Amino acid sequence: MSTSVLDRHAALVQAGELRPDADQVRAVSALAKVQAELEGAPARGITIWRFLGRKPEPARGLYIWGGVGRGKSMLMDLFFDSVQIQRKRRAHFHEFMIDIHARLKAERVKEKGDPIPPIVAALAAEARLLCFDEMVVNNMADAAIMSRLFSGLIAAGVTVVTTSNRHPDDLYKDGLNRQLFLPFIDLVKENLDIIALDGPTDYRRDRLGSAKTWLTPNGPDATAGLSETFFKMTDYPPEDRAHVPTLEMDLGGGRMLHVPKALKGVAVFSFKRLCAEARGAADYLAIARRFHTVIMVGIPVLGPHNRNEAARFVTLIDAFYEYRVKFLASADAEPDHLYPQGDGRFEFDRTVSRLMEMQSEDYLAEGHGPR
Ligand SMILES: Nc1ncnc2c1ncn2[C@@H]1O[C@H](COP(=O)(O)OP(=O)(O)OP(=O)(O)O)[C@@H](O)[C@H]1O
Ligand SMILES: [Mg+2]
Repeated sequence: MSTSVLDRHAALVQAGELRPDADQVRAVSALAKVQAELEGAPARGITIWRFLGRKPEPARGLYIWGGVGRGKSMLMDLFFDSVQIQRKRRAHFHEFMIDIHARLKAERVKEKGDPIPPIVAALAAEARLLCFDEMVVNNMADAAIMSRLFSGLIAAGVTVVTTSNRHPDDLYKDGLNRQLFLPFIDLVKENLDIIALDGPTDYRRDRLGSAKTWLTPNGPDATAGLSETFFKMTDYPPEDRAHVPTLEMDLGGGRMLHVPKALKGVAVFSFKRLCAEARGAADYLAIARRFHTVIMVGIPVLGPHNRNEAARFVTLIDAFYEYRVKFLASADAEPDHLYPQGDGRFEFDRTVSRLMEMQSEDYLAEGHGPR
């Protein structure tokens, strides 16, 4: 089988797995160009380059931006999978930055001066292609270091390919001390080709179709319904259900969360795992940032003795609502009968109202991300 991203994309369209889409073809052509440059460049350390006394030009990177469900992640994954080079890494941007901050902390402990160069060197040794999904900048800690980090990486010959919902000019928009961040935007414009993938179709919304998002009661029917939606949204073959990937999610600060099913921005959890264990807003926000869709199974009717679970569920739904996460669930009752009495029953009304809105067509059509 050909490994050119162009051919593989054409084959998927041919096979009817992808709908023909002119904007996607443009993006694939741009990705194919990066692929050719990456594969054409001689591997690092080849003598002739040393002999000529200069390094080969690294492949120029790519910044793909556009609305939700346009196929950015799908195309980048196809590209990443196609590129035949040894040292490549694909990361979710937010998790990459958590890793960077951990490395910064470790470097600072050594007190050996500027912590960024050794991190850049380590990253460049690990990968000459770095693919990021969902580049978004929403805190000053990231904003302040990105310009230096990425100029270092690019100077070290690393090719960066990234997706984002925003044009580079709109990254960290209205952020605190944004002037510290502006050099990063210039860097992107100088070193990455910027391409819009913003056609008229939100394919994810199409895939969700008219699937019900709140299924009652808990049981085999509800499970079967949710699982069908999961496979439809992730393109995963249902007959291979035993091998759906799990994820050990790093929530920062040494906190980990086991995600029993995690694929293409969709996660599956039980109510127990998220609301019966000691978890808080920071954990829920991390989940909300990381996944555009969360499927939760086994929500019981809550009573006065479940006040902690109820309070956590309120916090969870607030986080999901804030980030416009699509929430699909199986429960023993409709939202308004979920917590008939107990502490915090009054606050729970807001949750009921949000849960109703989260089932609406308008909500489901909105993009993932903070409001
Ligand atoms: N041309 C297409 N035909 C059919 N399905 C498609 C097509 N393009 C994308 N899809 C599917 O639509 C869904 C959404 O695509 P994808 O996740 O790549 O969107 P995205 O642009 O990354 O969205 P977001 O910005 O929310 O991350 C995926 O399941 C993907 O396989
Ligand atoms: Mg995506």
